Amino acid sequence: MELEYHYFEEVDSTNTRLKEAAANGAPEGTVYCAGRQTAGRGRSGHDWESPQDESVATSLLLYPDGLSDEETALLTPLAALAVCDAIEGRYGLVTQIKWVNDVLVNEKKISGILTERVLTEDGRRAVVIGIGINVGQRTFPTALSEIATSVAIEMEGVEGRTIAWKESEGEREGQEPEGELTERREQLEGERAERREPERERAERRELTEDVWREFLRYYETFVGKRTLGFVRGKYNAKLVNRGRRCVVCDPEGAYEGEAIGIDGNGRLLIRTDEGDERAIDSGEVSVRGIYGYV
Ligand code: BTN
Repeated sequence: MELEYHYFEEVDSTNTRLKEAAANGAPEGTVYCAGRQTAGRGRSGHDWESPQDESVATSLLLYPDGLSDEETALLTPLAALAVCDAIEGRYGLVTQIKWVNDVLVNEKKISGILTERVLTEDGRRAVVIGIGINVGQRTFPTALSEIATSVAIEMEGVEGRTIAWKESEGEREGQEPEGELTERREQLEGERAERREPERERAERRELTEDVWREFLRYYETFVGKRTLGFVRGKYNAKLVNRGRRCVVCDPEGAYEGEAIGIDGNGRLLIRTDEGDERAIDSGEVSVRGIYGYV
C-alpha cells in the first residue's frame, strides 16, 4: 500500500480530520500528521496532549474490507507493536505494552493509540488508527508526571546523540555537585530553548512517524491473511508489562483480582483468578490496572 502523507502545523485532532476525510472518500493509505493538536483525543473520552512540535500525532486511514469488527479491533495491538519496533529501532529504548495498547518505556507511557471506525458516504467501512508518541517533552502536567515519559527524557544519559532534543556531549561532560544540579538544569533548559532546531526536530518526528507506519503495514499485510494475532502473540506477550503480575479487572459486573497470563489470538487478556479459573477478558468490556497503580 502506498502511503500519502499530509502535514498540518495545527489541527484539532488528526483522527477527527481524517474521519471527516474518510467520510468524503479519501483514499486508503492517507496519513495525517500534526505539529500540534488543539483537541487531541485519547481513549475512554480522555484528552490527549500534543504540544507544539514536541510529539508525534498521526493517523492512518484504512478500508479493511472483509475484516469483521472484532478483527478490526486487533489492528490496535498491531499498531502498538509497530510503535515498539519503531522506538526500539531508532533509539534502542526497551519498550513494553500495557494491555491493550499503551506503549511504555521504564513503566511509563510514551505512546497511546486510538482506533476509530467510520462509515463513508457510500456505506463503506473505514478505520482510522491514531497514534500519539511523546518525543521532545521534558516535563508533563502534574497529573501525568508520574505515569508519562518521552523519548527525550528516556534518552538522557544514553550514549550517542540520536535525538534532536538531546543536549550535546559537551554539556554533559564532568560531574556537578548535587546542589548545583537544579540551577544547571534550568540554565541548560534556557540554552536549549534558544538553540532549538525546528527543522531537525521536525525531521526527527517525521522519520519516526514513517518508521511506525512502515512497521505497521508489515504487520497489517500479514494480518489480513491470517485474521488472528497468533503470528505476533509470542512477541506481544514478551512485551506485556502486565504478564505474571497481579491486577484488578474492573468488570462492570464486579471487580476482581487475578494474575495476567498473556493475550490469546483474539487480543483478549487471559487472567488466572484467585479461585484458579482462567478467564479471557475483552478490552471493550473491562479495563485492567495494576494492584499498586498504573502497571
Ligand atoms: C490513548 O492512549 O488514550 C490514545 C491516545 C491517542 C492519541 C492520538 S494523537 C493522533 C490521533 N489524534 C487524536 O486526536 N488522537 C490520536
